[in-house]
Amino acid sequence: MAHTNLDLANALADAKSQYTAANPRSHELHRKACGPLPGGNTRTTLHYDPFPVVIEQGEGSVVTDVDGHDYADFIGEYTAGLYGHSHPVIKAAIEKVLKRGLSLCSPTAAEAQLAAILCQRFPSVEQIRFTNSGTEANLMIAGAARHFTGRDALMVFNGGYHGGVFYFATGASPINAPYPFVLGEFNDPDTTLRRLEENANRLAALFIEPVMGTSGALPVNLDFLKALRTRTEELGILLVFDEVMTSRLSPGGAQQLFGITPDMSSFGKYIGGGLTFGAFGGRADVMAQFDPRRSDSLPHAGTFNNNVLTMAAGLAGMRDIYTPAVAIAHNARGDAYRERLNSIIEALDVPAQVTGAGSMLGFHFTREVINTPHDARRTPADARALFHLAMLNRGFYLGRAGLASLSLPLEQRHYDDFAEAFREFLTVYANVLRGM
Ligand SMILES: Cc1ncc(COP(=O)(O)O)c(C=O)c1O
Repeated sequence: MAHTNLDLANALADAKSQYTAANPRSHELHRKACGPLPGGNTRTTLHYDPFPVVIEQGEGSVVTDVDGHDYADFIGEYTAGLYGHSHPVIKAAIEKVLKRGLSLCSPTAAEAQLAAILCQRFPSVEQIRFTNSGTEANLMIAGAARHFTGRDALMVFNGGYHGGVFYFATGASPINAPYPFVLGEFNDPDTTLRRLEENANRLAALFIEPVMGTSGALPVNLDFLKALRTRTEELGILLVFDEVMTSRLSPGGAQQLFGITPDMSSFGKYIGGGLTFGAFGGRADVMAQFDPRRSDSLPHAGTFNNNVLTMAAGLAGMRDIYTPAVAIAHNARGDAYRERLNSIIEALDVPAQVTGAGSMLGFHFTREVINTPHDARRTPADARALFHLAMLNRGFYLGRAGLASLSLPLEQRHYDDFAEAFREFLTVYANVLRGM
């Protein structure tokens, strides 16, 4: 209990020293990477202070870094790693197509099969198209909606994230796609509906992530979502669900979980079986704009849209692994686990809470109710860093922002060990957390 009486700054400094001492090879690789890569980084999410661990391999739900530490993987590649690192069904599907050759430059049978499963699973999806990323999927929806409605602006939420060029964590990023954006306030019907009405005749679409992932696993309030559905329909604005993360939350994604059908949906992450993936789909009349048999069709290019590896892995995953029954069971397990972690918090009476839905969990260190990205900012950045490094130091791989996404191969012992480490973290740092 050496740390019990430290304040946050000292506790974090201690955790950083312990982490730095334990990870010399990662540290060295980071230093070398800083030459050719700005900040040693090519994906912003993966950077954290003092330097990120470099993972060398993964097996099931365990990853191993270059200094030889094993971690139970609780970030699950920000939801893309649902199948873990070595699922035999995914591996077999990839190995099979590898033998037949890459870059075939033609339609493949697998893409139509995967498309058919997705159309059947997700209520809003009458037709679908594949991209290489969730960002690209959202860009395609933005363009499709603007063309379809003849309006130019897009409504998004303050604190929302729909990809590197749709980044609203701090208002709007300077490198966002250059569309006119109108900001709504998540779970705030008065402000959002007022802005929706004020801009109704210029809004092509409203994008919402039904459980905000990057902002801390924040579920939408159902009445709020219903109101958005009703009003967008009345005003001729396309309602878009960004299901890049949330599609895992039920057999038919968040749209099935909440019982609200959007006009369009974007997908990504695990649906590609762990390979690069994105997709956008929805109403047949909106998707028909892309039908290349039409003389006025919109172009949708992408050399690797139907790359054989992703199509094979994605198909195997959705058809043979993440079946509707598995999706239901996995998310029920996530709900039960969130309750278990929250009851640990309650018993210790520390300022903390675990939010989320199903297999998406968000860790926050405040007693205040968290409904919005604004509320989520009540956890100081240093407290997030402390939690992250303390859990890494204990052998649990997590994202810096406090998001966890549960993968299928996590075993009961991983859940139990994580819960114990969490209890220990809250006990050791109780005074630090109470003093923030
Ligand atoms: C909700 C949401 N939308 C879109 C994206 C972008 O997907 P990608 O990283 O595949 O471009 C992400 C990625 O984390 C996401 O969480």
